[in-house]
Amino acid sequence: MKSILVIGATGQIGSDLVPELRKRYGNSNVVAMAHKSQPSAELSAGPVEFADAGDKEALLGVVKKHNIDTIYHLASILSAKGEQNPDLAWKVNMESLKNVLDLAREHKLKVFWPSSIAAFGPTTPRDKTPQRTVLEPGTMYGVTKVAGELLCNYYFKKYGVDVRGLRYPGLISYKALPGGGTTDYAVAIFYEALKAKRYECFVREDTVLPMMYMPDAIKGTIQLMEADASKITIRTNYNFAGISFSVKELANEIKKHIPEFTCTYKPDFRQAIADSWPRSIDDSQARKDWGWKHEYDLAKMTKDMLEKLREKV
Ligand code: SER
Repeated sequence: MKSILVIGATGQIGSDLVPELRKRYGNSNVVAMAHKSQPSAELSAGPVEFADAGDKEALLGVVKKHNIDTIYHLASILSAKGEQNPDLAWKVNMESLKNVLDLAREHKLKVFWPSSIAAFGPTTPRDKTPQRTVLEPGTMYGVTKVAGELLCNYYFKKYGVDVRGLRYPGLISYKALPGGGTTDYAVAIFYEALKAKRYECFVREDTVLPMMYMPDAIKGTIQLMEADASKITIRTNYNFAGISFSVKELANEIKKHIPEFTCTYKPDFRQAIADSWPRSIDDSQARKDWGWKHEYDLAKMTKDMLEKLREKV
């Protein structure tokens, strides 16, 4: 029987991943680990632990108590917040990953750890960015993603740790808000469209970034973790793509449902971060190795997001 620990369970991805894992593997077999944030009622329906992933002993205590065999390590400082406090981003992102990988090595745990499109930088080809390409990110968050990818690959090669990961694009979801990322506008725009019928976006209207609707991200994450080890040919992190669109295209799609909606643009420091990232991603390796296929396009995602958020706000 699986016994799973999700670190960063109260975050944007964890809030959707934990309920889905519990559906598949049983409520009591998926432990949601939080640090500072209070878990939602939904997360509290199963086991919850409070610990800091930067504290290896505390983490070991949780692993032993629940007989954990698999860790999804999602806790991280994102790109925009990381630029405001690069030291904190390095500390939180790197120390916790090292702890998780060391525990995995010592206790034979399987690990999921996400990288990001932020691993790429201004010298990376921006369209159909290949799996193997230049990795010279301009943000501290991106630096921790590249370093983390290399560390994961090292632990796989040297110690045989079964660690897998995806370079997530911007993720769009309705359960929990993203915290401090550059792609956050693609979530905020939906809340503001419903609440205020207008949104002031912090990047230009022609900004195109790779994005994905959360149900696709969750499906792909679980698919990768369930794939036979013989199929996994990438132990840094897989390129992982859904849809790419400009803010203007997104705003126009929302207007089809809310005609009064208007979007204005006031770029801030996050514009430079967005401009350093790819516009689209070549994820053919993931499609070939373990059958990745996204389902949501811009229209389908927008419709579903607005329906789900309408119930919420
Ligand atoms: N969504 C993240 C960010 O904007 C990228 O991984 O920081």
